[in-house]
Amino acid sequence: MKRFLALSLLTLSGCKQEKPSSSPCPELDTLRATYAAYVERVMRLHCLSCHQGQNPAAGVALDSYTAVRQAAERRRWYEVMANGTMPPSGKLDDCTLAALRKWIEAGYPP
Ligand code: HEC
Repeated sequence: MKRFLALSLLTLSGCKQEKPSSSPCPELDTLRATYAAYVERVMRLHCLSCHQGQNPAAGVALDSYTAVRQAAERRRWYEVMANGTMPPSGKLDDCTLAALRKWIEAGYPP
């Protein structure tokens, strides 16, 4: 019993010491923000219906790592999402935007 108590106390104090997260989504701290693990899925869900194939909207293809990286390096890619222009159906949530920003800041890990 004593042992159990000590253990739960430890766990509790461990919790308290955690820094309060300033990010809009707590899972961001542990998210593997790579293209393969994250960015590709966001593109598939929200962008590819218009931005892939022979004649992508605005000439911007977003259907491969190279294509997305090139678009991201030109900065418009993130801008149009952050200002709510893309996708046309409505702005992505803050958590998704923060995760995409994390990917950019990390240097576009594949
Ligand atoms: C329903 C179709 C559609 C979807 C979905 C869509 N786009 Fe677009 N996108 C367009 C069209 C049409 C244009 C060109 C006209 C315009 O600029 O409004 C465009 C233009 C762009 C441009 C060029 C803008 C510029 O001014 O240089 C970028 C970058 C872009 N989209 C990124 C995205 C991203 C990222 C997503 C997903 C989050 C997305 N789009 C989802 C239709 C779409």
